[in-house]
Amino acid sequence: MPPFTVGYFVGSLSKDSINRKLAQALLRLSPEELQFTEVPYDQLPLYNRDFDADYPPVARAFKQSIAAVDAVLFVTPEYNRSIPGALKNAIDWASRPYGENVFTQKPSAIIGASPGAIGTAVGQQHLRSILAFCNSPLMNAVEAYIEFTDNLITDDGAVTNTSTESFLRDFMARFADFIQRVYTAIPEARPTRTG
Ligand code: FNR
Repeated sequence: MPPFTVGYFVGSLSKDSINRKLAQALLRLSPEELQFTEVPYDQLPLYNRDFDADYPPVARAFKQSIAAVDAVLFVTPEYNRSIPGALKNAIDWASRPYGENVFTQKPSAIIGASPGAIGTAVGQQHLRSILAFCNSPLMNAVEAYIEFTDNLITDDGAVTNTSTESFLRDFMARFADFIQRVYTAIPEARPTRTG
């Protein structure tokens, strides 16, 4: 398998985010073929279509950071049975202006953690719907709803439960396989490398 670059979104802006800990764990457990960069979006203003005529530099840079990677991974909490507003705002920026949606044909996967027993399942369904509209080929299985119990993952991403660790390792291996399948089917969609 060739190396693939993955941009990851942490759906929480909290400095104590359990989803950020989950992202750290995924990076540690991922196959070496996947190379990660975080896609920051906390500096984006609130989107409205008046920006379409002239996107601000922060939004251009944000879109370019997505365009440049082979795939995107969303590691997100659920807010009120949906996705956090800041993440939705970022996706809206990435999807516009009309015809310049950077998620189109970009392979994606979703995972999330919550202290609750049905950990992010409903919010993830909303995100699936959004990414489908954005024409992103989304990994349908494995679904991953992580119930975040105390100390499940340390601050630097060590998973303390062997069964969860094994599940997360398998999730990332399957994501790598999925990315390869997508680019086997549509090789022309892969970003061109410079340098
Ligand atoms: C939540 N939380 C939450 N949890 C859940 O499982 N389903 C939900 O619908 C919600 N809704 C919700 C709304 C808002 C505004 C907040 C702040 C929180 C709880 C949430 O899962 C918990 O705070 C997590 O710790 C959030 O993830 P991060 O920020 O720690 O990554």
